[in-house]
Amino acid sequence: MTRIIYIQHDGREDPVDLPVGYTLMQGAVLNDIPGIAAECGGAAACGTCRVQLAPDWVTHVPAAEEIELSILDDADTSWRLSCQITVMAEMDGMVVHLPENQT
Ligand code: FES
Repeated sequence: MTRIIYIQHDGREDPVDLPVGYTLMQGAVLNDIPGIAAECGGAAACGTCRVQLAPDWVTHVPAAEEIELSILDDADTSWRLSCQITVMAEMDGMVVHLPENQT
C-alpha cells in the first residue's frame, strides 16, 4: 500500500493507503475524499479531477501527456488530472492538494 495525503482547500488532511495501480482519482473517490468530481470517470475529458501536487512531489510522477495537457490548459506543471496519475510504491507519503472547487 502507498500512503497518499489529500489536503482539502481548508487545510484538512485525509491520508489514505492505496494499492499500487489505482489512480489518485480512484483513491479519492473510493475513500469518499471530497473535492474530486471526476465526471468523466477517468477518461481525461472533463477536467473535474484537478489536483495540485506538493512541490517536492512534482518530479516523482511521469510528465503529463498531450491529452492531459489539453484539458489542464495551465503552464504550472504542479496541476495535474488525478485520473491520469497511477499510484506507485515510490509515491509513499505524497501530498496532494485539492482545489476549492472543480469548475
Ligand atoms: Fe475526468 Fe479526470 S475524471 S478528467
